[in-house]
Amino acid sequence: MNAVNIGVISDLHVDLNEQPDEPSIEEALLQVVLERKLDTLIIAGDISNDAIRSIAVLKWLREHSGIPVLFIPGNHDYWSKDNGIKDTWEIYKQFQTYEGCLVERPYALDNGWIVIGNSGWYDYTMGEPGYSIEQFEQMHAMDRTWQDSLYVDWRMSNPNIHRYFYERLEKELEQHSGKPVIMVTHMLTHPFFKVPMPHPQWSYFNAFLGSTDYAELYQRYGVKYGIMGHVHYRKTHNFEGTELICACLGYRKEWRQESAVQEIRDCIQIITI
Ligand SMILES: [Fe+2]
Repeated sequence: MNAVNIGVISDLHVDLNEQPDEPSIEEALLQVVLERKLDTLIIAGDISNDAIRSIAVLKWLREHSGIPVLFIPGNHDYWSKDNGIKDTWEIYKQFQTYEGCLVERPYALDNGWIVIGNSGWYDYTMGEPGYSIEQFEQMHAMDRTWQDSLYVDWRMSNPNIHRYFYERLEKELEQHSGKPVIMVTHMLTHPFFKVPMPHPQWSYFNAFLGSTDYAELYQRYGVKYGIMGHVHYRKTHNFEGTELICACLGYRKEWRQESAVQEIRDCIQIITI
């Protein structure tokens, strides 16, 4: 089998990062995808603040790159800031109409590897001690509101939607056990990637970054790679044989380079399998 080069990136935030006098973020990403001669691209969520825009970006990248562009929605992708769709499950179903959406649909690469993924969610287990569940359920502290409380409505609690995503991952990993697997979530699956303490605001908001439950799945199913996003870090961590990758483009104010192309070159991680 020939080696396959898979590019990994997340948190493009194309709407917030675009500048009128520069190529779009998706054009910049396309340039890097072509430069690096990638065979597949994985985007671990947060393309934009509107599901319809996020889907349009995915289709554009798929069409212009000519390679599979695999994706799981991030929390921002479930927002509908331009189109006002209130029902998050309706948005969830819209994402599934995109062929590269991994949610409930593991993707088999030509070389026998399987890419399994969904958004994952937060259940407050990444939260720091000293806060109660009731305080986390407020999704508001220190004059800041966690914006998912305004734009996402699963009609169930955060711990329950986490449980839903966890059980789907578990089922799909079981179905493909024995095969080499890349698991993709948007939410953090391991506390290594939390915001380090002490921190004035993240002492509360770490609770909304993911769940400590997911890491056990890597171990139980021998997952080779765990991809995630959400926290706007660029870090890797080897967790007992699973290579964890967080490759977030993040917001322009967090960038170190002048242009999106340069920043994406620094940010993108490449897995060769
Ligand atoms: Fe996010």
